[in-house]
Amino acid sequence: MKLFVDTAELAEIEQANSWGVLDGVTTNPSLLKKAVASRTRIGESVDIETYLERILRTVGPGKPVSLEVIGTTYEAMRTEALRLYERFNPVAQNAVIKVPVNPTLKPGEGDEADGLRTIAELAGQGIPVNVTLVMNPTQALLAAKAGAAYVSPFAGRIDDFLRAELGMSFDKSDYYPAEGMPRPHGPGVHHDNGILSGVDLVRKIVAIFDNYAIETEVLAASLRNPRQVAEVAEAGADVATIPLAVLGEMLRHPKTYEGMRKFVADVVEEYRSFFEPQQAPE
Ligand code: E4P
Repeated sequence: MKLFVDTAELAEIEQANSWGVLDGVTTNPSLLKKAVASRTRIGESVDIETYLERILRTVGPGKPVSLEVIGTTYEAMRTEALRLYERFNPVAQNAVIKVPVNPTLKPGEGDEADGLRTIAELAGQGIPVNVTLVMNPTQALLAAKAGAAYVSPFAGRIDDFLRAELGMSFDKSDYYPAEGMPRPHGPGVHHDNGILSGVDLVRKIVAIFDNYAIETEVLAASLRNPRQVAEVAEAGADVATIPLAVLGEMLRHPKTYEGMRKFVADVVEEYRSFFEPQQAPE
């Protein structure tokens, strides 16, 4: 499974890159807002073109960086996507355009298929598209049929949705069971149209794509804790995009710390001496 970092903070991207684990980056308008705000707070202004160029160059060729359109119609998204791709792909040949599966703001407003039209148009021009805000397997199937390079199921937001329906209070990073939670009144497990959890959404999309040898990659997104990352890996996601803090948490275990303390305490002098600087021969 490829690991992308889910951030628009250059410092976080540099850090993940220095760990030797980075396969790509995903951004969205909310992550860019956060990155710009953190620069503004320290009195720096952001020249967005230079800033995005630095991100693309830091990540480097062969490691995709998703940049999202902001429009909500076919015309707007197509124009923005071409502008983003033409401006930023030449930097390191790694730009991917992020397009919402359904760009309308509420039911009955706008054209719900404008996302699909945009994906098909861009894919037809050979531009890789990451389809965002995928919340059910049928959206994923449609996006793949339209030519998406990646579909991004939002696992954490599905967990939020199910928990909210269950009336649970929760922190964003709380784990929600992959097999779902029992209904408070009545039998069975609570679900959203058959989806038991965010991880279950990823699992079902992977199964559907496997059934038909669909080449679109499943990019598990909106991951908020290490257990979710392990579960989407088990489900066969092609990519997981992960906030830097969660990447850090993936390294931690109390028995690892305990083991390290014991190994450090047990080093005998005979062994330590091997590592001491050698005397230069006279
Ligand atoms: C990535 O492509 C998504 O934009 C991101 O994972 C959303 O995560 P969130 O639901 O935690 O905001």
